[in-house]
Amino acid sequence: MRLLVTGGAGFIGSNFVHHVLAHSDHTVTVLDKLTYAASREALTGLPVELVVGDVADAEVVDDQVARADAVVHFAAESHNDNSLTDPSPFIRTNLLGTFAILEAVRKHDVRLHHVSTDEVYGDLALDDPMRFTEDTPYAPSSPYSASKAGSDHLVRAWVRSFGVRATVSNCSNNYGPWQHIEKFIPRQITNVIDGIRPKVYGDGLNVRDWIHADDHSSAVLRILEAGRVGETYLIGADGEKNNLEVVRMVLELMGQPADAFDQVTDRAGHDRRYAIESGKLRAELGWAPQFEDFEAGLADTIAWYQAHEEWWRPHKSATEATYALKGQ
Ligand code: TYD
Repeated sequence: MRLLVTGGAGFIGSNFVHHVLAHSDHTVTVLDKLTYAASREALTGLPVELVVGDVADAEVVDDQVARADAVVHFAAESHNDNSLTDPSPFIRTNLLGTFAILEAVRKHDVRLHHVSTDEVYGDLALDDPMRFTEDTPYAPSSPYSASKAGSDHLVRAWVRSFGVRATVSNCSNNYGPWQHIEKFIPRQITNVIDGIRPKVYGDGLNVRDWIHADDHSSAVLRILEAGRVGETYLIGADGEKNNLEVVRMVLELMGQPADAFDQVTDRAGHDRRYAIESGKLRAELGWAPQFEDFEAGLADTIAWYQAHEEWWRPHKSATEATYALKGQ
């Protein structure tokens, strides 16, 4: 298939492009706006065409979709903290962008896979034995998660009303190479490299269900190739950890005392816990994660940031200055 990968120069999108080229015969065109969170370097040396453009630009999208056999739609503004400061890019890219994609795949009858987040389900209590399933009601908390929830609803409506051939996946928190240093894990790794104490929001007991980006990629490829049209699949790797556990692990792996971090101003509306039940994906499509040892995956990720300082260094001081303004 000729795949159009939106957001293919971002963290998860570029990981998916690498995965597709290594594990299939599909060809790839990337459509990416190259925002602050994307990087051309993540695609260096790959046989892909990079079209620099906005996913909310209906003309550009229509041109590209017309030439594709399938679209994998990663393009999104994804950082909760930024959505609290200025929601407008989230509304444009996540909602209008998905709308543009849907109109184009409808017109050209092209298969679509829409990539989304478990944050559309809101959060769970720490002591709740439940995890999110495909039947959990939508209850997003932040402008970011509300915009992704809206995009999922648009996809479902285009499937039902117009017969668009789409699948949806909702995945938990990703970690791995090429993640922007504003996000929790790479922020703390690069802080430790710089001799800055890691910053944990609030009491640090918030739980995230971590999955390596490569495992997310293999799940998306599997759903694209074998998923049932109209279905939603939750992607997760049983990686629940609270933020204190993660930051202590980062510190220890980097040779620092486990308590050498600061607790800072909490995020407004901070979701308490995310947890994914991915049994449908595993049973129906035979998918399983490969990175089952979080600590080993984290050690690899630390080594990657240590070896790629020239990539993240230009963004470090501005990223920390933005957080400092908020007491974080
Ligand atoms: P983040 O990487 O922003 O992902 P998400 O908001 O999508 O879960 O944050 C992961 C968790 O880490 C979340 O509970 C917020 C917390 N966090 C910190 O404690 N300190 C930080 O510096 C950042 C960026 C996040």
